[in-house]
Amino acid sequence: MQNIAIVGFGFMGMTHAVNIIKNDQLRLAAIIDKDIEGIEQKLTSKTGNFAIEGIDKDLLGTINKYLDIQTCLDNEAIDAVHVCVHTDLHYSMAKQLLSQGLHVFLEKPMTLDIEEGQELIDLANKNNCVFMVGHVVRFMPPYQRLKQWIDEKTYGPLKFLSLSRFSGVPSWGQWKEKQTDFGSSGGALFDLLIHDIDMVNYLFGQPDSIESTSMPGYLSNNDYTCAFWTYDKLGIRVKVEGGNVFHSTFPFQAGFSAQFEEASIFYSTLTPESIQVATHDEITHVEEIDSPDGFYQEIDYFYACIREGKKPHMCMPESSLETIKLCYQHTKDIK
Ligand SMILES: NC(=O)c1ccc[n+]([C@@H]2O[C@H](COP(=O)([O-])OP(=O)(O)OC[C@H]3O[C@@H](n4cnc5c(N)ncnc54)[C@H](O)[C@@H]3O)[C@@H](O)[C@H]2O)c1
Repeated sequence: MQNIAIVGFGFMGMTHAVNIIKNDQLRLAAIIDKDIEGIEQKLTSKTGNFAIEGIDKDLLGTINKYLDIQTCLDNEAIDAVHVCVHTDLHYSMAKQLLSQGLHVFLEKPMTLDIEEGQELIDLANKNNCVFMVGHVVRFMPPYQRLKQWIDEKTYGPLKFLSLSRFSGVPSWGQWKEKQTDFGSSGGALFDLLIHDIDMVNYLFGQPDSIESTSMPGYLSNNDYTCAFWTYDKLGIRVKVEGGNVFHSTFPFQAGFSAQFEEASIFYSTLTPESIQVATHDEITHVEEIDSPDGFYQEIDYFYACIREGKKPHMCMPESSLETIKLCYQHTKDIK
């Protein structure tokens, strides 16, 4: 049984907690949050862009709580920590944990600074820690099906893939503070569209060219991005588009469309029960498991890697750092 601590009990921390509690091989031993007083209230307040269900107040009462990481580590026998605070704290907290030999599951984006990201990777390797960044889309069933169909050429070779992701500007938790600290979160490009950029990186790696257009929003100069990626040798074009320039209650939506030689497919989180497969003659529906299952799968996979003493090959930190570099290729803010 792995003893786990979560640092940052906001939208993502709660999402991780639900999926750790659901997994009978894992034990949520501690929660660390600078606002520990407000923890119970968070269970009933609206947070995030999808519903979080499954943390009961009585169970929460039995989990030890701390205001800072070091006090927790000094008092508990922790094996791994999930870092679910905002991006500006990712590097310092992950460094503190990896330096002490703990396994780290770090929310995306890894860090906005390439050198800091590399330093974390080196530290994890030096201390034999499993280090994985939460690129959850790699673990979402509809996107795994997309990868399988591409790899197995189920509908012939892929020609064109379009991925999109839109939401309103986040207004829960500490996100309001990010609006007064323009640019510090990396904005929608590094925080939202990164999911699709990472998925394309996972599928095909570095493209031959990227043509990108961005628009500013509430959080950064890159809160809307639309980009065309070209893979010359594969003969594939990819479009990634998304952002959070909309008002806060705008419904979250993500999905993909793909044109293969023999069929075209469509998936949207607004109709999550199936992927639609269209030919010239008919449309069929392939049943799907809903995307949020990806959160359970990514956490389960991370602990399987720890148990088996393996690196997280499905989501290596080196690949996560490549994704950050790809994000920078969509901006003029070169790092
Ligand atoms: N994988 C995904 O789909 C996904 C979705 C949303 C957010 N995220 C990522 O998760 C991270 C957090 O986002 P969120 O929406 O959960 O934020 P949030 O504002 O809801 O929560 C942040 C939490 O961190 C706590 N915190 C802040 N400073 C702290 C400190 N020094 N020590 C301990 N706790 C501290 C806050 O009190 C708060 O509870 C971001 O990096 C974001 O990009 C990932």
